[in-house]
Amino acid sequence: MAKKQRRTQATSQDQMIVVVCRGGDCGSRRKHPGTDHAAQLREIRNAAGTEVAVTVSRCLDACEHSNVIVIIPDAGGRSAGASPVWAGEANDAEVTADILQAMAGPADLTGLPALVDIHTFHPTRQNRRELDEEVG
Ligand code: FES
Repeated sequence: MAKKQRRTQATSQDQMIVVVCRGGDCGSRRKHPGTDHAAQLREIRNAAGTEVAVTVSRCLDACEHSNVIVIIPDAGGRSAGASPVWAGEANDAEVTADILQAMAGPADLTGLPALVDIHTFHPTRQNRRELDEEVG
């Protein structure tokens, strides 16, 4: 696998982290011509403020689900038992809006908005390994 490059803002393990994949499939205009990838990332960054860290991944090895966005709960959510939520096919404004809603929701990520819930998939071990590399 090619060495990954990433643009990451400073993150704290205490805060919620949203990983937006922008690899060869996620973020591809050719694969998803109807998606404004830049606008989606801008919306997520704007909604994040200082409370949520946003990281851009070059690939989480879940390309078949592109575009992939992972919401990693903050320390409080994790201590309450929450796990990262992997959302796939996040390719339209409605799913993006629900991602933003989940980011603003409870720390334990309970009561996910409908479209995030529908688009959630179970990551493979390799997917989780790639995520760990991204966020440390
Ligand atoms: S490009 Fe996003 S998972 Fe591979």
